[in-house]
Amino acid sequence: MSRYETLLETLKTSPKTWLITGVAGFIGSNLLETLLGLNQVVVGLDNFATGHQRNLDEVKGAVTAQQWARFSFIDGDIKVLDDCQRACGGVDYVLHQAALGSVPRSLNDPIATNATNIDGFLNMLVAARDAQVKSFTYAASSSTYGDHPGLPKVEDIIGKPLSPYAVTKYVNELYADVFAKCYGFDTIGLRYFNVFGKRQDPEGAYAAVIPKWAASMINNEEVFINGDGQTSRDFCFIENTVQANLLAATTTDLTSRNQVYNVAVSGRTDLNMLFTSLRDALAKNGINYDKPPVYRDFRAGDVRHSQADISKIKNQLQYEPHFNIVEGVEKAMPWYVQFLS
Ligand SMILES: NC(=O)c1ccc[n+]([C@@H]2O[C@H](COP(=O)([O-])OP(=O)(O)OC[C@H]3O[C@@H](n4cnc5c(N)ncnc54)[C@H](O)[C@@H]3O)[C@@H](O)[C@H]2O)c1
Repeated sequence: MSRYETLLETLKTSPKTWLITGVAGFIGSNLLETLLGLNQVVVGLDNFATGHQRNLDEVKGAVTAQQWARFSFIDGDIKVLDDCQRACGGVDYVLHQAALGSVPRSLNDPIATNATNIDGFLNMLVAARDAQVKSFTYAASSSTYGDHPGLPKVEDIIGKPLSPYAVTKYVNELYADVFAKCYGFDTIGLRYFNVFGKRQDPEGAYAAVIPKWAASMINNEEVFINGDGQTSRDFCFIENTVQANLLAATTTDLTSRNQVYNVAVSGRTDLNMLFTSLRDALAKNGINYDKPPVYRDFRAGDVRHSQADISKIKNQLQYEPHFNIVEGVEKAMPWYVQFLS
């Protein structure tokens, strides 16, 4: 059995208390669904800045009434230390996901992004440290690689940030490291690379590419590609990301702590290939999309290529991504078809 399979079995028989910040968001609500499905006790914190009640309602529908009763929700803000302290009380493992995502949002409003992603992060670190939680795992970002051209991306080699969002995610890593050095409070940062899956928000100017394109295709609208279509990403299906979080939170190997890890599949999919994958998966769900993509200008702040080296997380946390991009898109598509039309 893999470490992850063993972990899932162990958790079922020995439940723990988890805090998920950003629980009403895409990644947070998927973590919630998995943890409740494993009979864990979960506290969730969110202020609905970008998350939705409907995500929580959907999780409620996906678990048993008994499992749902183990969830308590705090409508609170990580910018408020008191909310963070309230949320951390009695918690074993913190999965800190709350942040204002999106590079373009941070370009439009760097002050708001900074306040949530840096001040809020620091509040969570202080609250979790003082509550003496067993572990603190946080959502870092591949944007930290910035302008460094090297591929694949290896954790120790980063460039300069290309957006205010990237600055905030890098500052998180710096604070996390300082908390280990100054207070002995070890954390684990997970540098996510373009996560996708059910409940990722397709709406608004800051939507991620996969749900946005899926919604456009399902509704027979034009799909816009920023640039020439050869911009590439290491798209990571949500279930791989959930696995990484659970492995990170529960590791007992002290050398694996106070570290950052890439979370991806080490694949390289360009936007033209992504367009084809989505169109093919949609056809398998009975919807034929026959418009060609519309190419437009490159988007400011975007890096050209992003691909992760995942050997560190494989070796140290025994992470094994179970889904590549095509498998993930196929798994997610029925949800897109149900909810995005
Ligand atoms: N989705 C990706 O591809 C990706 C890639 C790299 C990093 N990340 C990081 O992963 C985390 C989760 O991202 P997501 O894709 O689920 O985004 P999301 O917007 O769906 O979820 C973020 C959640 O945080 C909540 N939130 C925001 N500000 C808050 C505040 N001040 N107080 C309390 N809650 C607040 C939002 O309401 C939302 O529910 C974020 O930290 C993001 O930066 C995501």
